[in-house]
Amino acid sequence: MDLFHGEWSTILPPDAGAVASPGYAELFTDPRIAWANEVLGPFEGFDVLELGPLEGAHSYLLERLGAASVTAIEGNSRAFLKCLCMKEVMAMKRVTYKLGNFVPYLADCPRFDAIIACGVLYHMTEPLVLLERMASKADRIMLWTHYYDHEAIQARPDNNLYAKPAALKGSPYRGVKRFYPEAAMAWRGFSGGSERHAVWLEHDSLIQFFHDRGFTTSVQSDAANSNGPALSLCAKR
Ligand SMILES: C[S@@+](CC[C@H](N)C(=O)[O-])C[C@H]1O[C@@H](n2cnc3c(N)ncnc32)[C@H](O)[C@@H]1O
Repeated sequence: MDLFHGEWSTILPPDAGAVASPGYAELFTDPRIAWANEVLGPFEGFDVLELGPLEGAHSYLLERLGAASVTAIEGNSRAFLKCLCMKEVMAMKRVTYKLGNFVPYLADCPRFDAIIACGVLYHMTEPLVLLERMASKADRIMLWTHYYDHEAIQARPDNNLYAKPAALKGSPYRGVKRFYPEAAMAWRGFSGGSERHAVWLEHDSLIQFFHDRGFTTSVQSDAANSNGPALSLCAKR
């Protein structure tokens, strides 16, 4: 684990072995995956696609919930290698990590029983493309994402990172360009997208997208998140 000294985001469980830099995110005890299992599952016996596993904590939770297989696509090569370390250390047996961009992967992949897209939508420059492809490959989708809320964002000290909200490319859905802070991009453990900006959808557009495609939705608000308004969403049809 110390190969990636100073680059871990996840707080590792005590049985992960010696780690000099323990991270900050409690992903091994993340209640969002348990909630998704309640609303969309149980995941037991499911073939699950996980987008952006980062360091593998959610993959581990999905396997422990009984998923028959977890296919996890990670685009950052260092994060991919950290996932492989985590897989070894945590003895994951039914998880397969693939290195690459999950957007083109979703165009050609088989259907899955469920897709977990936690912390990835707000890194997309074209979030509607990702949503459309997910909706074409599964009838159960869980996502956690930031969204654009004008009042909440304008009240933030980093409101200069956001452009003007607008309708996205002739669609009925609205979003805004959001630029990454320079300092965040400079960190070696940076877990964002590959461009200098992403597009954040507005809250109602996000929900409406799923309703327009025949999904029912359950939402848990994370509006007070320190990095900007966010929500967990389970969509099912
Ligand atoms: C903010 S982290 C979220 C990690 C984890 N899923 C969670 O919820 O804690 C985003 C992860 O998605 C990966 N990622 C972002 N865009 C990607 C893409 N287009 N294809 C593959 N991986 C991507 C990043 O490298 C990073 O590991």
